[in-house]
Amino acid sequence: MKQISIVDLQTMKDEAVKIATLTSYDASFTKAAEKAGIDMLLVGDSLGMVIQGHESTLPVTIDEMIYHSRAVARARKRCLLVVDMPFMSYTTPDIALKNAGRLMKEGGAHMVKLEGGASQVDKIKVLTENALPVCAHLGLQPQSYYKLGGYKVQGRSKGDAKRIKRDALLVEAAGAQLLVLECVPASLGKEISQALKIPVIGIGAGADCDGQILVLHDLLGMAEHPARFVADFLIGTGSILQAIESYVNAVKTGDYPALEHTFA
Ligand code: KIV
Repeated sequence: MKQISIVDLQTMKDEAVKIATLTSYDASFTKAAEKAGIDMLLVGDSLGMVIQGHESTLPVTIDEMIYHSRAVARARKRCLLVVDMPFMSYTTPDIALKNAGRLMKEGGAHMVKLEGGASQVDKIKVLTENALPVCAHLGLQPQSYYKLGGYKVQGRSKGDAKRIKRDALLVEAAGAQLLVLECVPASLGKEISQALKIPVIGIGAGADCDGQILVLHDLLGMAEHPARFVADFLIGTGSILQAIESYVNAVKTGDYPALEHTFA
């Protein structure tokens, strides 16, 4: 089975093939996701909410990320494996280097993800210079939950949209090879995906991103208060495997996200 690398995701963007990605936190769901044709798996710090029951991602520790990453890495055979750097694990370039190194050496990550733009350029540079590939995360940054006063759509004002686009260009120039863009108007998702050379994976960022990501539990209809961009793919399918296959197919054909899942 051919392993998917970041170079393959870049080729998919260049050839306008949509990238289907999903979060995973354990071995069983990883096997199902791979069987269903997912291209990239994210061990997201969303595990703090969907697995651990916290109200935000903030309490998650680096050791907990490593624990879940190892479970996913053991089952993974094909997908690119991206792992979140949890809150406060990348406050300086040195701390980021140490913790990203642990996620790769102990957790089996192929790439690490961190939230933020201009303020993270020094960390992205030091990680990529040391062969630790980076996925940036802009738009709604869940680790800023208390700073934002909740989960809110970002980039609706002209100034905010301009800042997010500037941050996207900055993280790409710093060496990030992938960008997750969360909860922004579809028009901004399109503008940033077109402006960047690297693949942009959207979540609530419209259909024109290069790929999509969903939290596994949301895809399976388990969200108590589903966000606008969430679609329940288990409805109408007979199994978890078919639900993930249906998501992959909807992303690849451009049927997901539909207008009803996007922000204006
Ligand atoms: O932690 C996570 O699951 C994420 C996704 C929402 C992109 O960052």
